[in-house]
Amino acid sequence: MNLRSRGLLLAGLLLAAAAGPRAAVFGGPGGPPRSDRFTPFVPTPPLVVEKMLELAAVGPDDIVYDLGSGDGRIVIAAAQKFGARAVGVEIRSELWKESSEAIARLGLEKRVRILHDDMFAVELGPATVVTLYQLTDVNDRLRPLLEKKLRPGTRVVANDFPIPGWTPQEVVNATSENGSQYKLFLYVRP
Ligand SMILES: C[S@@+](CC[C@H](N)C(=O)[O-])C[C@H]1O[C@@H](n2cnc3c(N)ncnc32)[C@H](O)[C@@H]1O
Repeated sequence: MNLRSRGLLLAGLLLAAAAGPRAAVFGGPGGPPRSDRFTPFVPTPPLVVEKMLELAAVGPDDIVYDLGSGDGRIVIAAAQKFGARAVGVEIRSELWKESSEAIARLGLEKRVRILHDDMFAVELGPATVVTLYQLTDVNDRLRPLLEKKLRPGTRVVANDFPIPGWTPQEVVNATSENGSQYKLFLYVRP
């Protein structure tokens, strides 16, 4: 477990809770939000992004979904470095806009797009790879959706926070540019 990023994520949760219901998001499939907490934007460092995509053996035939895509770095790398098509899902307007603009600037619109949506509400059927950088309790709430919507054989890579109840096929360490350690969990949907 990476204490630094965990600390940042947990601090963000506290800030979100302190900001009150207007900062609220997104709790579960359908219906009103179950919680006024959400995972804040803490970007995955580039070297760790690369390791996540390598761990999932992403290639040109893949469609990578990043649930909570932040500034779009994972979906952009999936297309630019691994030749995949990719879809990000981002609830926060400013991040959706920033990442969509970056994709247009890089000329990747035909292969990468960002849905401005709640990741609990999107269709995941086309995904062959899913990436996650969400807190463990969010992964726990996502699990039924992943079990229902993902096709057998879909690879799921979770950064730093495992998916409770699933057994990883592989767990590897990744080191960021500044030496921080991350733990990556690879799952394959049976
Ligand atoms: C820890 S950041 C990870 C960003 C990016 N995936 C990365 O690894 O660099 C989590 C992201 O999830 C987004 N998020 C949180 N809850 C969400 C939801 N229900 N639907 C879509 N995005 C969400 C946040 O706005 C934030 O950008």
